[in-house]
Amino acid sequence: MDNCLPILVTHTLSLSDLRKNYALGSLSEHDVASDPFAQFKRWFRQALDAQLAEPNAMTLATVSADGRPDARIVLIKGADEQGFTFFTNYESRKGQELAANPFGCLLFHWIELERQVRIEGRVEKVSAAESDAYYHSRPIGSRLGAWASEQSAEVADRSIIEAREEAFRKQFGDAPPRPPHWGGYRLVPDAVEFWQGRPSRLHDRIKYFRLADGQWRVARLSP
Ligand SMILES: Cc1cc2nc3c(=O)[nH]c(=O)nc-3n(C[C@H](O)[C@H](O)[C@H](O)COP(=O)(O)O)c2cc1C
Repeated sequence: MDNCLPILVTHTLSLSDLRKNYALGSLSEHDVASDPFAQFKRWFRQALDAQLAEPNAMTLATVSADGRPDARIVLIKGADEQGFTFFTNYESRKGQELAANPFGCLLFHWIELERQVRIEGRVEKVSAAESDAYYHSRPIGSRLGAWASEQSAEVADRSIIEAREEAFRKQFGDAPPRPPHWGGYRLVPDAVEFWQGRPSRLHDRIKYFRLADGQWRVARLSP
């Protein structure tokens, strides 16, 4: 305990001193794609080409029925004109929050590229066929894991989860059906913001707003 304080103090000092000048790129309303899906594809391709660690990891923010925000990382599994897709347990904390309040926000931070993408909209379940297709493409361990884990519920001991996995392995072998409580969600965006770090905190922020006719309006936001 005695040596905790100096570490804490050092840490606190260095946190306020940590800053970086962003100078890698720029983003203009004149050269972005006409819709956010095409722009996302462009940036995602660049994140892949840059060989970032897990560029497909994104923060998913949800809000509970009583208005409390919540966030966690999930992996993006699809991005097209319909929206942005991820897979999870429908009875998890996020699942319960989305059932009560079907809006979310997705956030990518591609730190090495000095980029952030923020995607807001309504969240809906994907079709059962789509969830089946993705579920059956997963390795067997993940497929059984989806049965074994009552995601977000308290559990007394890890051995309980391992015993459940073993029991489902005996029951289903290597052909488990998709659990009814597991599947995909699609966030259908009504706004998407692309952020590119720039020197002196004068960053570029280009935001797409979905209009009533389905077209997108592009605007620059102040950094
Ligand atoms: C890199 C990374 C990827 C993850 N991908 C997923 C995912 O695709 N689906 C998922 O349900 N949880 C994923 N998780 C776990 C979630 O962050 C979270 O712990 C879990 O979904 C329970 O969240 P909840 O209690 O808010 O529902 C991932 C975690 C990390 C760190």
